[in-house]
Amino acid sequence: MSFAQQQALVKEHIESIGQNINRLSSSFYTHLFRINPSLTHIFNGGISMLNRKFNSMLATFKSVHDLHKISAALEGMAKRHIAYHAEVSHFDDFNQALLLALEETYQDKFTPELKLAWQTVFAEVSNIMTEVLRHAPQAEKKKPVTTSHESLLIDDIGGTEVVTRVHQRFYDDLYEDEYIGGFFHHRAKRLLVRGQTEFMVAAFGGENLYTGEPPAFIHMHMFITQEMSDIREIYLRRAILAEGLSDDICQRWLEVDRSFHASLEKKSVDECVMRVWGQAPFTIKKPASYIPPKA
Ligand code: HEM
Ligand code: HEM
Repeated sequence: MSFAQQQALVKEHIESIGQNINRLSSSFYTHLFRINPSLTHIFNGGISMLNRKFNSMLATFKSVHDLHKISAALEGMAKRHIAYHAEVSHFDDFNQALLLALEETYQDKFTPELKLAWQTVFAEVSNIMTEVLRHAPQAEKKKPVTTSHESLLIDDIGGTEVVTRVHQRFYDDLYEDEYIGGFFHHRAKRLLVRGQTEFMVAAFGGENLYTGEPPAFIHMHMFITQEMSDIREIYLRRAILAEGLSDDICQRWLEVDRSFHASLEKKSVDECVMRVWGQAPFTIKKPASYIPPKA
C-alpha cells in the first residue's frame, strides 16, 4: 500500500471514530501514563483538557494527505510543543499508547493493514516534529494549561444547543464587524456555526463530531493578528453572556478558546503558509473609520 493509500485509510478511520472517541481517548491516556508516569505532570488538566488534546492530535493525523503543503504548519506546531514540555522520547510513548488504545478499542477490526497505516502516518508526523524539537533553541517553557474543574464544561454549559445558540449570535456580530468581518465575506455562516460548534463541543469534553482540520491548518494562510483575536473575543464574551451563562462558565469557555490562539496568530504576513501553490496570503485592511467593539 502506498503512503497516500495508508493516509487515506487512517483519515477514513479517524472520521469513523464517532462515539468511540471517549473510550479511545481514555484508553490512550491510561496506557500513556502507565508507560511514562511523568507525563501526568504535563497533562494534568482534567478530562476535557485531555480529550481536547487527543482530538487535536487525531485531527493532525487526518490532515497529512499533502505533507509538503502542511509541513510548515507542522513545524510551527512542533515549535509550540517545546513550550508544552514535549521531548523527543515522549513520541515513542505516544506511539505505543496510541496503538494499544486502538487495539483495545477496535480489537479484530484493527487489522494488521490498518495498524501498519497508523504506524506509518504517526512516524511521518512525529519525524517532522522531533526534527524540529532536536534543532530548535530551547524556548521558554509555558506552564501547562490546567483546570481545577473535573466536571465536563459541555455539561456545565448545558449541551450542544446552547453552544450553537452562542455561536449563532457570535457569528452574527462577527460578520457585521467592519474590520474582521472581512475574513468571512462569502463564507456560509450556517456552516461556520456548525463547524465551530462541533469543534468546541469536542474541546469542552463532549462528543466529537468535528470532521474538519485543526484550526492551526484552517487558518494557516490567514494573516490573523493578536488585535484581531482580541476583537473576536469581545464578541464571543458578549454572545456567551447574552445566552445567560455565568461569568465563571464564560471564563472557562474563553480559556479553552484562547488555548488555540497561539496556533493561529501571526506576527507578520510572512508567517502565513499557503494551502495551494501560487495562493496569496489572506489579508484584510482595517478601515480608517473603524471603531472597535466595546469590551
Ligand atoms: C505526533 C504527535 C503529536 C501531534 C500530532 C500533536 C498535535 C497537537 C496539536 C494539534 C495540539 C493543539 C495545539 C497546537 O496546535 O499548538 C497539541 C497540543 C498539545 N500537545 Fe501535542 N501532539 C503530538 C505529540 C505530543 C507529545 C509527544 C507531547 C508530550 C508532552 C504533546 C503535548 C501537548 C500538549 C501539552 C498540548 C497542549 C494542550 C493544550 O494546552 O491545549 N504532544 N498537540
Ligand atoms: C481572529 C481570529 C479568527 C479569524 C479571523 C478566523 C477566521 C476563520 C475563517 C475565515 C474561517 C473559514 C475558513 C474557510 O471556510 O475556508 C474559519 C474557520 C474555522 N475557525 Fe476560525 N478564525 C479565527 C479564530 C478561530 C479560533 C480561536 C478558533 C478555535 C477556537 C477557530 C476555529 C475555527 C474552526 C473550527 C473553523 C472551521 C469551521 C468549519 O468546519 O466550517 N477560529 N475561521
